[in-house]
Amino acid sequence: MALLSAEEKRRMRLAGKVALVTGAASGIGAAIARRFAAEGAIVHAADLADGGGLLRLDVTREEDWQAAMARIASDHGRLDVLVNNAGIVSNLAIDAMTLAMWNRVMAVNVTGAMLGCRAAIALMCDRDAGSSASIINIASTTSFLGLANDVVYTASKAAVVGLTKSVATWCALQGLPIRVNTLHPGATLTAILRDHIAARPEMKAAFDRMAPIGRMADPDEQAALAVFLASDDSSYSTGAAFVADGGLTAAHPTM
Ligand SMILES: NC(=O)c1ccc[n+]([C@@H]2O[C@H](COP(=O)([O-])OP(=O)(O)OC[C@H]3O[C@@H](n4cnc5c(N)ncnc54)[C@H](O)[C@@H]3O)[C@@H](O)[C@H]2O)c1
Repeated sequence: MALLSAEEKRRMRLAGKVALVTGAASGIGAAIARRFAAEGAIVHAADLADGGGLLRLDVTREEDWQAAMARIASDHGRLDVLVNNAGIVSNLAIDAMTLAMWNRVMAVNVTGAMLGCRAAIALMCDRDAGSSASIINIASTTSFLGLANDVVYTASKAAVVGLTKSVATWCALQGLPIRVNTLHPGATLTAILRDHIAARPEMKAAFDRMAPIGRMADPDEQAALAVFLASDDSSYSTGAAFVADGGLTAAHPTM
């Protein structure tokens, strides 16, 4: 492999940044981890199971967050980017929802992101003047639009927006150099949707038609937006919602 020159390394958009990505074993998280590394970041890719270069981090467990932050603090002394990406679905409408499933999805999608924000802030405060740390909370188009067949997923992704706005505002008012934003993917071809499509192949065309652009997203297209949010190019953005949905939320329902 050709070695990069110092100038090429400097031009990488995340050169030298220390990043942690949760739920990075597959799908959007894996794509973000790959893309961050290609842009020069030092990436800790975390998921439920360790091995294969992954850090074990169940986002619902406080002790896992403490251990991950202790490891990053001892290796690097700081954290520049956190992507709260781990997420699960229930595929249950309100009539079939169980309390156990409601609590499980909320624990991963909302409480996990809150624990991540709280744990990361302590390691993000102490940094060189002129650069800010970035927390990216992966939300969904269901933050804005109700999914009739998944009440808890919809509620959880709306809650991620509220969490983000509160933490972003708090950090800014405290004078902390930490930006917090949501990234809202549209239908993206990953394990979460692949199961649906395997069970009902006609769903692929339905997912493609959902967006005016006429196709599902590739995980790498979500990762490209995450690079922008992680980089200093987004230095004036905090508490904001960034959508990559092929026009889904822009379209009039009668189109
Ligand atoms: N794929 C889509 O169409 C789509 C659309 C909108 C939003 N999203 C969001 O994007 C994120 C990534 O989803 P994806 O499509 O890549 O799904 P995915 O199923 O491919 O990946 C999710 C990852 O999260 C991990 N995970 C689950 N529970 C965890 C926990 N408690 N702790 C740590 N890791 C855990 C899984 O092991 C898996 O590797 C999720 O937050 C999802 O809600 C996805």
